[in-house]
Amino acid sequence: MKKLNILVLGSGGREHTFCWKLAQSKTIDQLFLAPGNAGTAALATNLDIGVNDFESVKKAVIQNNINLVLVGPEDPLVNGIHDFFLDDPQLNKIPLIGPQKLGAKLEGSKEFAKAFMSRHNIPTAQYGSFTSEKIEEGYDFLEQMKPPYVLKADGLAAGKGVLIINDLATAKKELSNMLLDQKFGKASSKVVIEEFLSGIELSCFVLTDGSNYVTLPMAKDYKRIGEGDTGLNTGGMGAVSPVPFADEKFYKVIQDTIVQPTIDGLKKDKIPYVGFVFIGLIRVGDAPYVIEYNVRMGDPETQVVLPRIKNDLAEMLYATAKGKLDQIELLVEDQSATTVVAVSGGYPEAYEKGKTIKGLPSSYNSIIFHAGTIFKEGEILTNGGRVLAVTSLGDNYKDALLQSYKLLEEINFEGMFFRKDIGFDL
Ligand code: AMP
Ligand code: GLY
Repeated sequence: MKKLNILVLGSGGREHTFCWKLAQSKTIDQLFLAPGNAGTAALATNLDIGVNDFESVKKAVIQNNINLVLVGPEDPLVNGIHDFFLDDPQLNKIPLIGPQKLGAKLEGSKEFAKAFMSRHNIPTAQYGSFTSEKIEEGYDFLEQMKPPYVLKADGLAAGKGVLIINDLATAKKELSNMLLDQKFGKASSKVVIEEFLSGIELSCFVLTDGSNYVTLPMAKDYKRIGEGDTGLNTGGMGAVSPVPFADEKFYKVIQDTIVQPTIDGLKKDKIPYVGFVFIGLIRVGDAPYVIEYNVRMGDPETQVVLPRIKNDLAEMLYATAKGKLDQIELLVEDQSATTVVAVSGGYPEAYEKGKTIKGLPSSYNSIIFHAGTIFKEGEILTNGGRVLAVTSLGDNYKDALLQSYKLLEEINFEGMFFRKDIGFDL
């Protein structure tokens, strides 16, 4: 296979992990990140381009003879970067990993995703979907449901668009805030109201070329800021893979009732899809239900999924782009991986940037993935809410966690915080 120049879009821990894995590939010539972070700068060339600046991405692709583009976050996909490539005579031969606008609606519109699941009999919570004109029907629907009430803004709302409310009066008030007062802007001009499912969550990742697919190792992430899963939702404070409660039997049920019907559904609906499908699941009793679809890898799940994959990632992505994923046999490391995320003080609310990160060890058994970091005047500074994710491998997740926590003791920046209970519920 010829050597590839690959461009990865994004700047988080997920993208540093992609970069770290791609840098190990035998088939890589040059690796670029746009915009990347201080961690990716050490392994690849960072380009100062935003992920939604398609014209600048185009220039960079042409200038650097890029052979494949991997899109990290959902935003550019929902905004149609894949369609932009296909519509451009200079770009339409360059493969891009990530679905077109239509497929990206699985994440970009909760209503679209729910209708997809209901069409293909994929288990998910009962729901109704309402606009401002139908708000009275929305109130009636709420009255027929049992608490807690789950209200979801239809569109992308930076991970904040889901409300879980215990009393009916507040639920009605919030429905009105979302539909009439645009609590989440345009994203809440439609609201999905769902049955509340009680169980334990896990994340399932599938890579598909639109016809063949591989199911990657499952992971579990920890979304709340506080220990014991309390406090505000974040992008994710830690993750483990494999998921101890996802045994072979449960895995098979997920494959048969969710993964296969999802891929078949995309085909039946003629939704072209080349890229990752991240299926957010909840285990209710013995049965898995879909909470949501995302059209990308998870963050920080990628930081525990990729280190367990033995395959050459560039080869896998190239096979995906060429519709030849059936030629790839997935090889997974038996060891467990864990990651613990260190965040800026105040996150997920207001926080300061520009704090010097000290104590980053130069040789270690764990892997330090950077998220919100920047390299400036010889120093590595904080540059976001989630700053670092420390991943370790071990014979079991407890051994791996001990290593991550040990390393985190050496690192510090003003205001640094991390959860000390990752894996507490397993
Ligand atoms: P989403 O953005 O759809 O993943 O929702 C964010 C979080 O809200 C999920 O990770 C769940 O913890 C919770 N959630 C969403 N939908 C439901 C539901 N139907 N029942 C219980 N919890 C839910
Ligand atoms: N860790 C959850 C997400 O990436 O959306």
